Amino acid sequence: MPIPDHIVNFWEQRYLDEDTPWDRGNISPALQHWLETGALEPARILVPGCGRGYEVVELAQRGFDVVAIDTSVTAVTSLERRLDQAGVAAEVLCADLLGWAPAREFDAVYEQTCLCAMAPSVWPQYSRLLGEWLRPSGSLYILFMQTGQAGGPPYHCDLTAMHELFSDARWQWAAAPAVTVPHPSGIHELGYVLKRRAD
Ligand SMILES: C[S@@+](CC[C@H](N)C(=O)[O-])C[C@H]1O[C@@H](n2cnc3c(N)ncnc32)[C@H](O)[C@@H]1O
Repeated sequence: MPIPDHIVNFWEQRYLDEDTPWDRGNISPALQHWLETGALEPARILVPGCGRGYEVVELAQRGFDVVAIDTSVTAVTSLERRLDQAGVAAEVLCADLLGWAPAREFDAVYEQTCLCAMAPSVWPQYSRLLGEWLRPSGSLYILFMQTGQAGGPPYHCDLTAMHELFSDARWQWAAAPAVTVPHPSGIHELGYVLKRRAD
């Protein structure tokens, strides 16, 4: 099921109003960590819910083949402008992830707080799609928002619930400890690397 118009409009209005407290104005320390440690190396990568997409520019500069998607036309226009300024290329789409299918699978997905932006009722659909978009043994780099509160967005990504959503049957959770990342709004995210098991 695609997301309804009022949700698309909600995110677009946040960008139009510049009411984007999640926006660091720079790349996430989690991405920096995974790049510096060699946990993430140039590959065909998807950045779902990319927002203004500082990470997309960084990945493109480092030679990744990047596809980035967001429903907000304002966010993707801002990203396209900064890609142009940096003199690098990425495929940038203004689309609803829940109604989208890629032409080819990805080696990796960098999921930076798009899950927590979606209503928990669509998490089973979204997590299934993440698995379908990745090739077998492809990796999902994902930041789970920790608000410790009911309601959202952002919705709290309780780790027990995340282990059920990204179950052992389909996903192998890396043994490395979670990367703890402060969120610009004062809460924090936990970053994990999950490998999609072969069918
Ligand atoms: C909390 S923001 C995070 C943006 C960016 N990843 C960052 O960290 O700055 C969530 C983003 O997901 C996008 N989004 C939410 N639902 C979406 C959907 N169904 N398809 C595509 N993008 C979506 C919103 O427009 C918003 O830009």
